[in-house]
Amino acid sequence: MQVVHTIADLRAALAGRGRPAFVPTMGNLHAGHLALVRQAKPLGDVLVASIFVNRLQFLPHEDFDSYPRTLQKDCKVLEAESCDIVFAPRESDLYPQPQTFVVQPDPQLADILEGHFRPGFFTGVCTVVLKLFGCVFGGNPGTAVFGRKDYQQQMVIRQMVRQFALPIDIVTADISRAPDGLALSSRNAYLSPEERSQAVQLSRALQTLAQSALAARQALPTLESDAAQALGAQGWEVDYLTVRQRGDLQAPAGALEAGHLVALGAARLGRTRLIDNLEF
Ligand code: PAF
Repeated sequence: MQVVHTIADLRAALAGRGRPAFVPTMGNLHAGHLALVRQAKPLGDVLVASIFVNRLQFLPHEDFDSYPRTLQKDCKVLEAESCDIVFAPRESDLYPQPQTFVVQPDPQLADILEGHFRPGFFTGVCTVVLKLFGCVFGGNPGTAVFGRKDYQQQMVIRQMVRQFALPIDIVTADISRAPDGLALSSRNAYLSPEERSQAVQLSRALQTLAQSALAARQALPTLESDAAQALGAQGWEVDYLTVRQRGDLQAPAGALEAGHLVALGAARLGRTRLIDNLEF
């Protein structure tokens, strides 16, 4: 496995290797990332993982500085997964000058939910992902794998790829969960032992919301605010708990139809903000 830091070294490492399968990450890899890597492996001729904590997608008060950076450990686990190339650019490699050209995603999709609570987040994500795609694929066809835990992110990226006519297949991988049901996330490392034992309450709240939405005994906004209140009563600070249409993440129009919906949630437990979702 080659570990490269510069775009030039990445391109040299990729030359003549065929079609890349690519897994972009911010490092601090856990079993969820490794599931993405395993899924990506047979989808290309050469498997590339990137590790880059992207400043552009963090708000000033967020955890950019404290985000765990564990490059050596990450490389060991990637090597064990038969990754071919790790692209781990320094900030000066990926952003040698301030990134003044940015991708402005469709506000209908990107300014709701995560984008509402983290303004500019998807501009930062799309800008770095487009740049990473340029580095890895250079306009050639390939496949990139993203996790479905970041449900809105994979939708925004799909839309970007479609609208810019990039020859890249976007594959989404199922959410990896701990045995108690907590969605795996690098940010779970911030949880105290007590918070960790409570953290599964978020996914349980989504299950309850989905069940009560289908039972449809009350209007959806009432069910959503009841769900937020119940989670709040367990000590969480809720950003949103909501049921949306899978196709566009808008509030469902008309009768709720199982098989087309997703319950999405974001909430803070202590200083840790967690997100999760459940298709139903
Ligand atoms: O999902 C992530 O880890 C990041 O948002 C990504 C896609 C690597 C872009 O920085």
